[in-house]
Amino acid sequence: MSEPVLAVEDLRVRLRTPRGLADVVNGLSYTVGPGETVAVVGESGSGKSVSVLALLGLLPARVATVTGTALLQGEDLLAMSPDRLRQVRGPGAGMVFQDPMTSLNPVLTIGRQLVEGIRAHGDVSKAAARSRAADLLREVGLPDPDRALDRYPHELSGGMRQRVVIAIALSNSPSLLIADEATTALDVTVQAQIIDLVEKLQADHGTGVIWITHDLGVVAGIADRVLVMYGGRCVEDGTVDDVLERPAHPYTRGLLGSLPDLAAPVGPDGEVPELTAVPGLPPPPTDLPPGCVFWPRCPVRSDPRCEHEQPPLAVVSRGPGTAGAIASGATSSGAHEGGAHLPHRAATWCAEGAPGTESHAAGGTSRAASPSGGDR
Ligand SMILES: Nc1ncnc2c1ncn2[C@@H]1O[C@H](COP(=O)(O)OP(=O)(O)OP(=O)(O)O)[C@@H](O)[C@H]1O
Ligand code: SF4
Ligand SMILES: [Mg+2]
Repeated sequence: MSEPVLAVEDLRVRLRTPRGLADVVNGLSYTVGPGETVAVVGESGSGKSVSVLALLGLLPARVATVTGTALLQGEDLLAMSPDRLRQVRGPGAGMVFQDPMTSLNPVLTIGRQLVEGIRAHGDVSKAAARSRAADLLREVGLPDPDRALDRYPHELSGGMRQRVVIAIALSNSPSLLIADEATTALDVTVQAQIIDLVEKLQADHGTGVIWITHDLGVVAGIADRVLVMYGGRCVEDGTVDDVLERPAHPYTRGLLGSLPDLAAPVGPDGEVPELTAVPGLPPPPTDLPPGCVFWPRCPVRSDPRCEHEQPPLAVVSRGPGTAGAIASGATSSGAHEGGAHLPHRAATWCAEGAPGTESHAAGGTSRAASPSGGDR
């Protein structure tokens, strides 16, 4: 059984904001295995970006307090010196942001930026690094890579710039790639090309991928596992089939309910049915509810514990091959078990007693008994 590339345990991020202390990430635990893609989904403000910025030491220390552990191939990212973190970013972990201009220096040529990245992490001559840079641009599908090396970021289209950023992120064959809305701004054709490219490079290099996105269609296409975030917590995780086909948390069901149902009948004038969004707004991280973080918006809250107690992540069902891997109702991430075999977990009282649920704490009043969800 292979060790995970990344094992995050009890990650917490508190930010000092003008409105007071904000608990933006609250006890996040997950793993990413070699070659595995973990999609992270959740509404705007749920802490997706902050959680990965924290891993790579990219939050300003004067406003952010980060605790927990994040073992990248056994080495704790959160305990590293700034110098060591700089060494690790690149060969250890590459990151692609939504806006390529955040990562590219507008006054340096593409070639210089790629060559500097390659040479910063290895004893490579300038000529060899330039040749490797051209190869990388070819791999990411950039036409005429030798010419592109001498161009400045503003001379390239948005799709080309994003390919360059991906090339930079992959230039040192990282063991972990974090893509934060990396393809959101691109048209669907370019998006599909980039997804193919990442999958190919992932297969070649065994890179573990964290893919943050709002696009559940992309999730269905690329993810091995899905982690659903709400209020800085993981409220559900499991294989992509478990989470998308049998969502156990009312929030996940709400998110999936906002996907267009392509099989739904159109109206007499050709109009498509309206999307059902999750009603209400997420709680501000400066004022999280004391009990279940989803309580203020939950359409099926009925358990007396919901308002005052935090439901733990409990095993909803086990995937094939997980027998004995995790104790029933375990709250840990289940690290080191290999991605596809991790059980399906959800932080909700309402799944208790539902078919396939392995957590049966006393007192649960189960209204949303079907994990496939009447509210989808
Ligand atoms: N530098 C900052 N200072 C203060 N608050 C911040 C800062 N960065 C993020 N936050 C707050 O932290 C919370 C989580 O933000 P984050 O950017 O991680 O959300 P997200 O899930 O990535 O959302 P989106 O889907 O819109 O990208 C939000 O409430 C946001 O306002
Ligand atoms: S624990 Fe209660 S409030 Fe929270 S999602 Fe489940 S039913 Fe809703
Ligand atoms: Mg974000």
